[in-house]
Amino acid sequence: MFVAFEGVDGAGKSTQVRLLGEHLERNGREVVICREPGGTSLGEELRRILLDPGSGDLQPEVEVLLFMAARAQLCNKIIRPELQSGKAVISDRFLWSSVVYQGVVGGLGVEEVLSIGRVATRGLLPELTFLVDLDPAASHSGLDDGDRMESRGIEFQRRVRDGFLALAEEFKDSFILIDGGASIEQVHQQVLDALPKEQP
Ligand code: TYD
Repeated sequence: MFVAFEGVDGAGKSTQVRLLGEHLERNGREVVICREPGGTSLGEELRRILLDPGSGDLQPEVEVLLFMAARAQLCNKIIRPELQSGKAVISDRFLWSSVVYQGVVGGLGVEEVLSIGRVATRGLLPELTFLVDLDPAASHSGLDDGDRMESRGIEFQRRVRDGFLALAEEFKDSFILIDGGASIEQVHQQVLDALPKEQP
């Protein structure tokens, strides 16, 4: 079982990742949680570069290749082996983040980013992606004093939100739309309700 969570910065994804992991463990699954970018030593190093305000204004094509390099390493070193050993993998962000941030908002194009993604992941995709949808005005993070990504402001976050919603509409089979404005417990319940029924 491989699922991912997506959404604007501060939508509460990380909390939901943790809650789902705890739920699965209570039901006897071994769970591996990862976050993007990161999860491997190379990935964490790339994360530092990508989120460091000192990296300045990286072009979307530079960003996408760095995110994809981190993703390729994560797929090869962690996700694929852990899935093969029977564990459930939950990822805080995955390929759809690149599609939205670099492809839609950054202007590289959806198909272009998906095609780089096919190389990076060798076709490994989550069975389900939970899109935790939230109005950026209600987001839980202070967007003004964040990292290089978060400091892009609320208008940027609105474009990200719209991008995710448009993708969820276009790729209906890949996404479960979750109302991130509900309470933490209600959001968690929406996630559980959408889990494939053969899963605990
Ligand atoms: P992070 O601090 O993990 O944000 P969050 O807690 O909101 O997930 O920072 C990741 C940032 O990188 C976030 O702003 C989204 C962005 N990002 C991309 O632009 N492209 C990508 O492929 C990924 C994985 C993340």
